[in-house]
Amino acid sequence: MLKKSKRAIVTGGTRGIGKAIVKELAARSCCGVLFSDVAFIYNSCDECAEEIQREIGEETKVFAFKADASSFNDAQATVDAAIKKLGGVDILINNAGITKDNLLLRMSEHDFDKVIEVNLKSVFNYSKAVIKTMISQRYGRIVNIASVVGLIGNAGQSNYAASKAGIIGFTKSLAREVASRGITVNAVAPGFIETEMTSALNEAQRQTLITNIPMKRLGKPEDVAKVVGFLCSDEADYITGQVISVDGGMVM
Ligand SMILES: NC(=O)c1ccc[n+]([C@@H]2O[C@H](COP(=O)([O-])OP(=O)(O)OC[C@H]3O[C@@H](n4cnc5c(N)ncnc54)[C@H](O)[C@@H]3O)[C@@H](O)[C@H]2O)c1
Repeated sequence: MLKKSKRAIVTGGTRGIGKAIVKELAARSCCGVLFSDVAFIYNSCDECAEEIQREIGEETKVFAFKADASSFNDAQATVDAAIKKLGGVDILINNAGITKDNLLLRMSEHDFDKVIEVNLKSVFNYSKAVIKTMISQRYGRIVNIASVVGLIGNAGQSNYAASKAGIIGFTKSLAREVASRGITVNAVAPGFIETEMTSALNEAQRQTLITNIPMKRLGKPEDVAKVVGFLCSDEADYITGQVISVDGGMVM
């Protein structure tokens, strides 16, 4: 059974998959009891942050914090502030991510470093900031948003694929470190999901992608959010160190 009022922190919560995760965790309920209060981190679009808070309403507490997820110092300060507002932390979702695609021949050092800092270093930053609390309460759920690209690679995304493969190694290592303390650490690897991140694809690129997806459609942010919600629930108590693809069958 889901316990009352867990406390969740989600990085990159203003749009796309992160927004769907914030909504899923806030709306999830069992036996008439809401699942989680949520603090989300974002680095742009104050109006989007306000809109989400309005959309979720008053039943669940939702707090927004503006911070750069790639900054170690910001992460510690933001998590401290979020814990103060939420009264603790039970769940961390590392979702913030960016792309800066190019063939290696043309990829700049800046674009390689930036993608690693936002996508991978942020996972270290936020996991490090919550782990002491989770260990001392002997309970925690960490879900990291990786990508199928971290499993199979993708031409033009060596920086992004490296960051996502790094997240998978990080997930399995931390899962082994904290399994005996009641903390699970899992990764979700989305395939191609309809968000602003993938909106740059033209129609021809979309059709080529769809050809390679057995379910013949791109995913929706909610497809990913539901799996994240499940991994945070008590039904997933005995699952740790796993990478679950949500990709319409692309990688099997
Ligand atoms: N959309 C896809 O097809 C897809 C596929 C696989 C994996 N993913 C992963 O899912 C996650 C979410 O992707 P999305 O498609 O929703 O992307 P998006 O671009 O729509 O949203 C990204 C979110 O991350 C936040 N963010 C970016 N940089 C940040 C920073 N430095 N500090 C704080 N917040 C920051 C943004 O504010 C935004 O809320 C990312 O990690 C992405 O790599 C997406």
